[in-house]
Amino acid sequence: MKKVECIIRPSKLEDLVVEVEKLGINGLNITQIAGYGKQKGKQEVYRGVEYEVKLKEKLKVEMVVQADQVDELIDIITDASRTGEVGDGKIFVYSIDQAVRIRTGEEDEKAV
Ligand SMILES: Nc1ncnc2c1ncn2[C@@H]1O[C@H](COP(=O)(O)OP(=O)(O)OP(=O)(O)O)[C@@H](O)[C@H]1O
Ligand SMILES: [Mg+2]
Repeated sequence: MKKVECIIRPSKLEDLVVEVEKLGINGLNITQIAGYGKQKGKQEVYRGVEYEVKLKEKLKVEMVVQADQVDELIDIITDASRTGEVGDGKIFVYSIDQAVRIRTGEEDEKAV
């Protein structure tokens, strides 16, 4: 099992969820976050000069999936979330040790 976490533009959420549903993902979490990337929230970075950081509002979407779904999910997230401009976001993949469905006690692959 893997957790796929992506940071996306809020405007891309609907497109992403539509595509993720098609893949048969059974659950996800969405969190509103503020953060910054390489440009530190600025449209431009000026040579060698340090500017204050500006936080950008993004959404974090987390999905725990079967390991063999990860590659396809990454493609789907990338296609749904890309504008080609800076700030399109990032995808992080984590290993998950254990999962339990509380209602039934089912574990791991059966629980996600
Ligand atoms: N290394 C990182 N660790 C954790 N979160 C990050 C990291 N880089 C970016 N983020 C999060 O992702 C958001 C979008 O990052 P962003 O797409 O601007 O990355 P970037 O590396 O600057 O790429 P680009 O040059 O395409 O803008 C940030 O606002 C921040 O919330
Ligand atoms: Mg950036």
